[in-house]
Amino acid sequence: MQVVNTVVELRHAIKAWRIKGETVAFVPTMGNLHDGHLQLVREAKKLADRIVVSIFVNPTQFGVGEDFESYPRTEQDDQKKLAIEDTDLLFLPAVADIYTPDAKTTVTVSGLSDKYCGASRPGHFSGVATVVCKLFNCVQPDIALFGLKDFQQLAVIKTMARDLHIPVEILGVDTVREPSGLAMSSRNGYLTVKEKAVAAKLFYSLCVARDAILAGVQDYNAVEQQALLSLTQAGFVPDYFSVCRSSDLAKAAPDDRELVLLVAAKLGKTRLIDNIYFSR
Ligand code: PAF
Repeated sequence: MQVVNTVVELRHAIKAWRIKGETVAFVPTMGNLHDGHLQLVREAKKLADRIVVSIFVNPTQFGVGEDFESYPRTEQDDQKKLAIEDTDLLFLPAVADIYTPDAKTTVTVSGLSDKYCGASRPGHFSGVATVVCKLFNCVQPDIALFGLKDFQQLAVIKTMARDLHIPVEILGVDTVREPSGLAMSSRNGYLTVKEKAVAAKLFYSLCVARDAILAGVQDYNAVEQQALLSLTQAGFVPDYFSVCRSSDLAKAAPDDRELVLLVAAKLGKTRLIDNIYFSR
C-alpha cells in the first residue's frame, strides 16, 4: 500500500493508473477504522481496479466544544488494517494541504444541511460538503463509498455532487452492527462498558418504531413521541427521532412508501446517531 501526504503525490499516483485505463474507487474517512469502514473498502474492491482511502480528521465539521481535539487518531493501526484489505493508496494529508491559509471557498447544501443533525451542529454539514468536494477534486474517483449510518450526510454529499456536476457515482453501504445491534462508530470508543450495553437500545427503538409503522400505525407524530419517551427512560438525552421520507428527508406523510427513521441521542458525553430505512 502506497501512503502519500500531499495532493501532488496523490495526483501523480492516480495519473499512472488512469494512463493504464484503470478505474478508481474512493473511501473518505476520518480514521480510527472499524469494521464499518473496512466493509466500505471491501465493497469498493468489487467495483473498481484501484482503491484510494483518505484519513483526514476534518476540523471544519466539528463545532466549538465538540471533540475535534480528542477525536481518536490511530494512524498506525489504521494503516495495518488497510494494508490487509489490499488498499492501493492511503492519502493522509495535513490540514494545511486541504485548507490553504488563504482559502475563501466553502460548499453549503442549503435546506438539507439545516435540519436533524444540522440543527444541533450548525456548520457541520458545510464542513462535510466542503471537505468531500475538495477530496473528490483531488482524487477524481469513478465511485465513492459512504456508510449509510450517516444517512443525512450521504444525502448532503449526493446533492452536493449532483449540483456541482462532479462526475462521481456515490454509493451508500449498509451499516455494520455489533451483535447487540449497536451501529459501529468511532465514537463508540467514548462509551463506558455500562453505557455500551444501554447504547444498543438506540437501534432497538428504531426497530420498534419501524414495526409499528409496518403494522399499520399512521400517526407518525405518536411514533416519534413514543420513541423519544422510551429513549429518555433508558437513560438517553434524545436530540431527535424523526419519521422521514427517504428520498429527501422531509417529514413523512401517511402515503409515503419509502421511509427512513432518523435518531440522534446523547448517552453520557457521547452523541450517537442511527437510522433504519424500509418500504411500506
Ligand atoms: O463520515 C466521515 O467519516 C466524515 O464525515 C467524512 C465523510 C470522511 C468527511 O470528513
